[in-house]
Amino acid sequence: ERLLAPSGPLAGRHVIVTSGPTHEPIDPVRYIANRSSGKQGHAIAKAAAEAGARVTLVSGPVDLPDPAGVTTIRVESARDMLAAVEQALPADIGIFAAAVADWRVANAGEQKIKKDGGRLPELALTENPDILATISRRNEGRPPLMVGFAAETEHVIEYAKRKLAKKGCDLIVANDVSAEGGVMGGDRNTVHLVSQAGVETWPTLDKAEVARRLVERLGTWNVGGKA
Ligand code: CTP
Ligand code: CA
Repeated sequence: ERLLAPSGPLAGRHVIVTSGPTHEPIDPVRYIANRSSGKQGHAIAKAAAEAGARVTLVSGPVDLPDPAGVTTIRVESARDMLAAVEQALPADIGIFAAAVADWRVANAGEQKIKKDGGRLPELALTENPDILATISRRNEGRPPLMVGFAAETEHVIEYAKRKLAKKGCDLIVANDVSAEGGVMGGDRNTVHLVSQAGVETWPTLDKAEVARRLVERLGTWNVGGKA
C-alpha cells in the first residue's frame, strides 16, 4: 500500500528487469540451462523499486525470493521470457540482465525420451529469440533507455562494444565471468559500463552495490543523448 507518492531517482518510471537463467526443455523432465543465479538481476529490481520505480521483474528459474515491492513474473524458457516482457510494456527503462539460453532444442520430446537399446538421442538445436535486440529494435514502444549485460570470458570491452552496436541498446554492462571467485553465482561483480559516451570501469563491488549505483546512474541518464 502506497500512501505517499514515490520519491527517488526513478520515481514515476516503469522499469522492466530480466533476471536469471532460462530453462530450455529437452523433454518433460530434462532441460538445458546455465549457471546464472539471478542475483545481479534481482538486486537491480530491488534497487530500482527502492529508487521509486514501478518494477516488473521477469525472472527465469532461480533459487531466490521475489523481491519486496516488485511485480515478479516467473518464466522458464527464452520464448516465455520474451512474451512476458512484451506483455509488461510500455516501460521507461529496460534492464535485461538475464542469462538467456542462446539455443533451445528444436526437436524437444512431448514424452520422456527413453533409453533405446544403446541408441543415443540426437538433440537438434535452434537459436532462441534475442530478447534484448528484439525490444531494442522495436519501432513502436521501445523503452527510451535500454540496458543490456555482457557475460564474457575474454576481450571484455571489445566484445561489449560489439554487442552495444549489434543489439541496438543504449548501454552494456559488461562483466568478466571468468573472474576470480566466479561471478556466476557469486556475490561480487566487476563491471564496465560501455556506451556511446565511452567506457566506465567500476571497482569490484557487491552485486547489491552494483545495482544501487547502476540505478542511480540510470536516473540521471540523458536519454537519446550522451551520458
Ligand atoms: N540476451 C537476450 N536474449 C538472448 C541472448 C541474450 O536478451 N537470446 C541479452 C542478455 O540478457 C544480455 C545481452 O543480451 O543483456 C548479452 O547477452 P550475452 O549472452 O552476453 O550475449 P549474446 O548476444 O548471447 O552473445 P554470446 O553469448 O555469443 O557472447
Ligand atoms: Ca549468450
